[in-house]
Amino acid sequence: MIKGDNFEWVSLNILENKIGLDHIKHSRWTTKAPIMDNELFLEANEFFSRSLPNGLTFDDVSLVTRYSEVLPGQVKLDTQLCDSIKLSLPMISSDMDTVTESEMAIGMALNGGLGLIHYNMSQRQQVKEVARVKHHVHGLIQDPICFSADHFIGDVLKTIEDKNFQFRTFPIVDEDGKLLGLLPGRVVKQRYRDHKVTDGMLARDKVFTIRESEVGEDPIVTADQFFSKHMGIHKLLVVDDQDRMRGLYTLSDIERIMDESSGHLKPSRDSMFRLLCGAAVSVPRDDQGNIEKDSLIQHVGEMVDHGLNLVAVSTAHGHTKGVGDAVRFLRDAFCDLPIMAGNVTTGEGVEFLGSAGANIIKIGQGPGSICTTRIVAGVGTPQMTALYASSKSKKKAGVKILADGGINKSGDIVKALTLADGIICGGLLAGCREAPGAIIEIEGKYYKQYRGMGSLEAMRDGSAARYGHSQKDLQSKSAPEGIEALKEVSGSLREVLENLAGGVRAGLGYLGAQDLSELQKNARYIRVTPAGQRESAPHDVVEIKRSDLNRS
Ligand code: XMP
Repeated sequence: MIKGDNFEWVSLNILENKIGLDHIKHSRWTTKAPIMDNELFLEANEFFSRSLPNGLTFDDVSLVTRYSEVLPGQVKLDTQLCDSIKLSLPMISSDMDTVTESEMAIGMALNGGLGLIHYNMSQRQQVKEVARVKHHVHGLIQDPICFSADHFIGDVLKTIEDKNFQFRTFPIVDEDGKLLGLLPGRVVKQRYRDHKVTDGMLARDKVFTIRESEVGEDPIVTADQFFSKHMGIHKLLVVDDQDRMRGLYTLSDIERIMDESSGHLKPSRDSMFRLLCGAAVSVPRDDQGNIEKDSLIQHVGEMVDHGLNLVAVSTAHGHTKGVGDAVRFLRDAFCDLPIMAGNVTTGEGVEFLGSAGANIIKIGQGPGSICTTRIVAGVGTPQMTALYASSKSKKKAGVKILADGGINKSGDIVKALTLADGIICGGLLAGCREAPGAIIEIEGKYYKQYRGMGSLEAMRDGSAARYGHSQKDLQSKSAPEGIEALKEVSGSLREVLENLAGGVRAGLGYLGAQDLSELQKNARYIRVTPAGQRESAPHDVVEIKRSDLNRS
């Protein structure tokens, strides 16, 4: 009785009976404001159902500011995508051949997000790319490169060059893997190439080791305490009860990891402190159109052996028997592996993939900056409506959803996160140094190639299955659903991500939201007209670019 709308009406009725009408008019006018807000600024259910049958995308809506005690710097952007995958930045780089290979995936994970290695490469190459991410700096190196006593320093130098190793200190072991000593980087030099490794190594009794059983629950803290106690020592080796090599810590890795814990964007790591890495697969088929189940499982198994944290069954149309079957095969073969699948744009599609065994569903058909699906096939739902429809089924399906495509500014990310658990982007990251491909100079400006995976060139390189085509029918029976384009070079990934994260934090601050769950609770929407869209961007001024100022 005494809350919200009811309270106002009841109190006004009482007032009407007790005092004169003039006074009532005045009271009604002043006390009605909150009702007006509720009518104008709608929460998701009401807003999207009242907008029907129109489908809306990012620029069609704006978020309404709410009372706030939250400063942008206090906002947490953590998202838990499944039991084993928690990101401090809810951003994933798209599995596109001009966006995510190992360098981008390393950068994304170091900055708190996640990269999905694309599949326009041989299976062998994709395994290698995953391995590169998983072997990037982490606290405890579990398979350190060792040399045996019969090697010469020249052999070590050659291996460093062939494998492009960035380190020069190696344990020396006997034929059973037992530790004999440690070859320090200072003797790994050309002038000593004819010496045996045993001539230059620190003998076993001078090498600091710790037993595997003493590493404890938190290997990084154990190593950090060791290095603090032992001034000037940079390496700590882990051995088993038979003194066989089990791992290696280096001081610089430990320091880097300890530093990370004070930063805003915490790197995404697995339980062994290796960077998280995802990889995409298509639904491979033989000439008769049957899914090549064994090959799919074997390939994913190899990536899992290298530490893959998530596989994405990535296609243009995920609400299909083929994608459902592929997800089911993978779920049966790898019961604990997080599976992402897509793309869909309906609640039905989300439930379908969830019941096949997927944990995370990609939402988006045709919103991408290089997509032509809506033009070519005439299908697809504007992205905010697609996200709303999908969000209605995610609880029932027991899955998380990601907004995939069409995001070209931080404000779009905030809008997407009012309905989704994270976002996937391609175009925003394709201009970064970490994206694959060379920088191209055109009339003094610098660009990188960015192309749709459904463009003819990309499909020729392997992505035809994503669009339901066979490689050999490409010329005759298929219409490309993407274009080839250029993106202006945008600097380092860290700068780009920090900028975007800053915008997202500001958005949450405006909505009084400390984290993504409060954002979803507090979100109220208002429809924007074309005039409103013009008003939303800089207008009626000549914008000065920093580069123009630098020139004058
Ligand atoms: P943005 O807008 O971030 O979009 O550049 C990236 C997303 O677009 C999807 N994608 C495509 N969609 N034709 C399509 O219809 C294509 O050729 C194509 N290539 C990528 C994909 O979901 C990606 O994450």
